[in-house]
Amino acid sequence: MEDQPAALIFLALQESALGHLMRASPALYPAVEILHIMGFVLLVGAITALDLRLLGLARTIPIQPLAHLLLPLSRVGFIIAVAMGFLLFSADAAHVVRNPAFQAKLLLIVAALINIVIAHTWPWRRIAKWEGEAPTGAKATALASLVLWLSALTAGRLIAYF
Ligand code: HEM
Repeated sequence: MEDQPAALIFLALQESALGHLMRASPALYPAVEILHIMGFVLLVGAITALDLRLLGLARTIPIQPLAHLLLPLSRVGFIIAVAMGFLLFSADAAHVVRNPAFQAKLLLIVAALINIVIAHTWPWRRIAKWEGEAPTGAKATALASLVLWLSALTAGRLIAYF
């Protein structure tokens, strides 16, 4: 495993100036982890609220203005979570990459991103024609989104136990 090209890339990242920096200062890693947590709380919090509305909760709240608030928040959260996550990863890349919980988390994030592409190229394209409630297609992608992001969160928490 160690001499495989992929493993060498992760070892190179771990031994890079960035990897050393993330391990050198006792305060930097916890600070980055706190930002990582703030990023995915914003991401998963905003997406969970929107998905529950799409699934029929709080029907008095119109979907489009709610989406205008929560979608940009989820994007900012995603960018922060991924950037800080990469920094955390760089500190111990050669080991974390073999962590089954970490691998599961990345697969779930990719699946959640594919689901976003499906949602936005299919049901969400006709959002102006929705009559108050989300159509079945939007409900289906909302349910998939809820399951995938909450599973990614769970896998992330389990990294420390593997
Ligand atoms: C964008 C969606 C993401 C979510 C929802 C997420 C979620 C989580 C969660 C819940 C934890 C546990 C935090 C704790 O209990 O302290 C965690 C830790 C971690 N995440 Fe993420 N993460 C995301 C993206 C990433 C990415 C893209 C990477 C790397 C490329 C990454 C790397 C890590 C690492 C290395 C840890 C372990 C930190 C430690 O235990 O010291 N994360 N993540």
